[in-house]
Amino acid sequence: MNNLEMSKRDLDVLWHPCTQMKDHETIPLVPIAKGEGIYLHDFDGNRYIDAISSWWVNLFGHCNPYINGKIIEQLSRLEHVILAGFTHESVIRLSERLVALSPDGLTRCFYADNGSSAIEVALKMSYHAHKNRGTERSLFVSLTDSYHGETLGALSVGDVALYKETYEPLLIRAVQTPSPSNQTPEAALEAADAFRILLQERGEEIAALIVEPLVQGAGGMKMYHPLFLSEAKKICQEFGVHFIADEILVGFGRTGSMFACEQASITPDFLILSKGLTGGYLPLSVVITTEDIYGAFYCDYDPARSFLHSHSYTGNALACSAANATLDLFETNDVITKNQETITFMGEQLKRFEMFGCVKESRQCGMIGAVELQGFDSRERIGLKIHRHCLEKGVLVRPLGSVIYVMPPYVISLEELKYVFDAIESALRTICANEN
Ligand SMILES: Cc1ncc(COP(=O)(O)O)c(C=O)c1O
Repeated sequence: MNNLEMSKRDLDVLWHPCTQMKDHETIPLVPIAKGEGIYLHDFDGNRYIDAISSWWVNLFGHCNPYINGKIIEQLSRLEHVILAGFTHESVIRLSERLVALSPDGLTRCFYADNGSSAIEVALKMSYHAHKNRGTERSLFVSLTDSYHGETLGALSVGDVALYKETYEPLLIRAVQTPSPSNQTPEAALEAADAFRILLQERGEEIAALIVEPLVQGAGGMKMYHPLFLSEAKKICQEFGVHFIADEILVGFGRTGSMFACEQASITPDFLILSKGLTGGYLPLSVVITTEDIYGAFYCDYDPARSFLHSHSYTGNALACSAANATLDLFETNDVITKNQETITFMGEQLKRFEMFGCVKESRQCGMIGAVELQGFDSRERIGLKIHRHCLEKGVLVRPLGSVIYVMPPYVISLEELKYVFDAIESALRTICANEN
């Protein structure tokens, strides 16, 4: 089989995510035959550096021998078991480790099987906890340009028109407060002031604030200072509003610390993790919450006060074994400290884009680097052109509109990372020079 044959079979039967399928009349699909470390190999013998960690999930490379081994071990014991009324060792061990790792005061793990579903869990839990305590609060607040997933609740608290607008009539109640406009402490304080004003006006209706701490991913890799988080947390406390930290993207070292909330020294009421949780192997997500929230549901059997939410694959044993293996790798390899060298190097690499007229700004938060372009109309699909150019150079990037970003697996070497930035520079030199 070659790429063409595989693509034909695919396009006869599949409908791909976040894709206008007609595009594939002109844009070839890339069928992947195998993954190895940071590389993806296609059926024609080409290889690509996965510079976006396959939608931000992969931490330690594809087909990591250690994680593979641990999943195989688990497979020989137990693949899956219902998590209501039953349990298993991998989910217990994972929960103990997550509670120990996450900010003080987070003590209870509730599992789902993808990021959006975990957002739904947190929104429902927040609303229901207030209700169990005798208050009706059905409005949620999120930041402008936020993204929390594609299911209806998650979409409601998001603010990316491209994904949301069509479905407006189907959504639950949510309002946005301005996100900090840049990475300075001043912008953080300004955004916190606007949030305070909103709570002064509507605080009693609001169940929770939900944020992507430090980096707003799908909204354009916008980044902000930790001061916003500490201020927003204080304001939430003052008005009895829950603080939901969606660390689905930023958790597990992406911002330089294990969890982004650590940089603001805050404990959210809900911490949501997915993506890197299993090292990018298997679908799993978790909502970690406090004894206070847990206590709002703990009572003699009363269906109205119980959290009767479930997913078939909740706490899947294979996914939990991948997650435990991922945490082993963090522990044994001192990953957070070692990533510092990559972070510094990425910062140096990003500087080379400052001289381009078509570059509005380059920015970085930990292991995430972004280059925002200016002067292009969205119909020009500049991101797609850059994606195509880089693929030809053997690098997978997938810009968000005119924001190019790099979010590689942590096992990338400095030389390989330089190659990624060389490919992006080459794309800018050819494409921007032609069009700008
Ligand atoms: C911050 C954030 N929240 C939620 C989600 C949704 O996760 P999933 O795609 O697993 O549903 C994403 C996905 O990109 C995300 O970046």
